[in-house]
Amino acid sequence: MAKILVTYYSRTGNTAQMADLVAQAAASVEGAEVVTRPVEEITPQDLLAYDGLIMGSPVYYGLPAAELKKLLDDSVQFHGQLAGKVGGAFASSGGLAGGNETTILAILQMLLVHGMIVKGEASGDHYGPVAVGAPDGRSAGECEKLGRNVAALVVALFG
Ligand SMILES: Cc1cc2nc3c(=O)[nH]c(=O)nc-3n(C[C@H](O)[C@H](O)[C@H](O)COP(=O)(O)O)c2cc1C
Repeated sequence: MAKILVTYYSRTGNTAQMADLVAQAAASVEGAEVVTRPVEEITPQDLLAYDGLIMGSPVYYGLPAAELKKLLDDSVQFHGQLAGKVGGAFASSGGLAGGNETTILAILQMLLVHGMIVKGEASGDHYGPVAVGAPDGRSAGECEKLGRNVAALVVALFG
């Protein structure tokens, strides 16, 4: 089985809802095994066990929450060992144009520095799913698309 971790930070539950949608869709892909955990329960060492890493955050001043940044900063001890894994990111903001895309891109930048593989999306949310507050129907569809796309890629590469 190809293993995928969906990890997220969420203080008021919006990003957690997105994480569940991403994870459920990823788990629907045959050959994918998906684990969903808040970032506080994940150590840098845990990241090594997965073929795909999908990370979500609320937008805090246009950037990911410090808790997610810290996980990635601490993962420097394994620098090089995440290379070739598949990545993805999603974010929830308080307002429209509140920094969702900058937050997603900041997460993806960190995954790219690790040498990970990131697929863009030609239609819909190009960089990753965004929500304003809790995911609405449009956003839920984008979350499911990310989950399915990452899982299909991970299964193709590692399954
Ligand atoms: C410290 C802090 C900074 C925030 N900065 C922004 C921001 O720059 N832009 C924005 O649109 N919303 C901002 N918000 C709102 C959150 O991104 C928004 O409420 C989000 O849906 C919370 O996600 P959660 O329910 O997963 O915690 C901020 C909230 C907090 C607590």
